Amino acid sequence: MPETSPTTTPSLLAPASEAVVRATAGVVAQHAEEITARFYPSMFRAHPELLRVFNQGNQATGEQSRALAASVVAYAVQLIDPDAPSFAHVLRRIAYKHVSLGIRPEQYTIVGRHLLGAVADVLGEAVTPEVAAAWNEVYWLFAMQLGAEEARLYVQAGVDPAHPLRPYRVVRRIDEAHDIISLVLEPADGAPLPAIDPGQYVSVFVDLPGGDRQPRQYTVSSTSSGTRLQITVNRVRGVDGAPDGRVSSFLHDGIEVGAVLDVSAPAGDFVVKDAEGPLLLASAGAGITTVLPIVEHIARTQPTRPVIVAHADRTARDHALRDTVVHVGGQIDDFTTYTWYESVDPDDTRSREGYMDLTDIPLPADVQVFTCGPLPFMRHVRSTLLARGVPADRIRYEVFGPDLWATQPPAEPVPA
Ligand SMILES: Cc1cc2nc3c(=O)[nH]c(=O)nc-3n(C[C@H](O)[C@H](O)[C@H](O)COP(=O)(O)OP(=O)(O)OC[C@H]3O[C@@H](n4cnc5c(N)ncnc54)[C@H](O)[C@@H]3O)c2cc1C
Ligand code: HEM
Repeated sequence: MPETSPTTTPSLLAPASEAVVRATAGVVAQHAEEITARFYPSMFRAHPELLRVFNQGNQATGEQSRALAASVVAYAVQLIDPDAPSFAHVLRRIAYKHVSLGIRPEQYTIVGRHLLGAVADVLGEAVTPEVAAAWNEVYWLFAMQLGAEEARLYVQAGVDPAHPLRPYRVVRRIDEAHDIISLVLEPADGAPLPAIDPGQYVSVFVDLPGGDRQPRQYTVSSTSSGTRLQITVNRVRGVDGAPDGRVSSFLHDGIEVGAVLDVSAPAGDFVVKDAEGPLLLASAGAGITTVLPIVEHIARTQPTRPVIVAHADRTARDHALRDTVVHVGGQIDDFTTYTWYESVDPDDTRSREGYMDLTDIPLPADVQVFTCGPLPFMRHVRSTLLARGVPADRIRYEVFGPDLWATQPPAEPVPA
């Protein structure tokens, strides 16, 4: 039996499969998006009920297809390469998303059948029985790890996967900024609010006019009352002929006080822990929804912890929650804000004009960064901070869509 070095972890794959995956990972990676683009239509044809669980906007743009392809390739690579970056955060992000959507273990069989079928369709004769068996093993290892994490998260949240949603009544609707509203939601089943960590999101399921049912994720932007949670929704306008956002438009146009929405348990690990050390919260546009709950949390539990809030938006009119963030931040001993607008009103002397530029703001040495906004914005924040010596592991990010962070090339410049 070959000896294993004490410093290397043996692969989870059987040795024969490992050799096949090593030999075929390149060709699978090359065709991964073609495979996942074929997988979804085939699965939806056989299981139209899943159209109500998958975000059809992400299907139309291809983002979910790309995210799935990237995750499977990254998973296979870390199985065969002991030096590959840790996969733990990717696994956790997917598991949280699945749990917020009520994904169940038995559904892995459906996805597996159609995904592996799509691999065979796209790669054709290259998929020998050995190749099929090796990728089947990769899929099921991934599925088992996700399933285990999801089981843990369901138990931790006290959620039965067969009933992942609770009804919440809209008790208040607030116009926050141009095209941005907040909805304050109260559990309609009489049970208390679940525990919500600052920065977590919920999945909200809506029944759209015409009969479609669709989920979307919204960050819990405030829990200040203790008995209600607030979501803050940016109305997505279609650009260049693309349609307006379906769910955000429906929440803006079709939801009034008294309406009842189906809402998941809180999910996500973009969460500030109660460690010490200063925080920089760098957001753009709707990313501000992650800033307020973190500022609320620090004001309530660690008011001596320094917090810097840096926000970029198109104009002051588009900047939601600004006054609330400043008001709540006033309870923090050392609280600083910076604001950038693409165009600044003449009488606004506090805001800077242009895109966010963090090159010259004073930063404490041990700052921990939480950034949320469009991907190009977050890449820019990250590269500026890395250049200023902030270690990569101190920079956390949240993507308001399928996580394509690792799949797109860096882009400049950086509109909010
Ligand atoms: C973890 C997380 C937290 C989030 N938190 C918030 C939050 O706090 N506040 C917030 O406002 N949002 C948040 N979001 C985003 C939110 O979930 C939705 O994605 C957003 O509201 C848009 O949904 P929609 O149904 O309105 O748009 P969709 O209908 O899903 O459309 C999305 C985009 O796809 C384009 N599109 C759709 N169909 C087509 C087509 N056929 N061809 C070309 N383009 C098309 C649309 O034009 C639009 O640009 C969050 C997302 C995640 C993942
Ligand atoms: C090994 C198997 C699976 C893998 C690798 C996988 C991977 C992923 C990834 C990468 C995402 C995007 C996460 C993000 O937001 O960044 C995702 C989302 C999602 N997954 Fe899975 N998944 C698997 C199994 C399943 C199963 C069994 C179901 C149930 C039918 C499912 C349903 C969903 C849904 C509904 C979403 C959200 C899609 C969206 O918002 O566009 N997945 N998954």
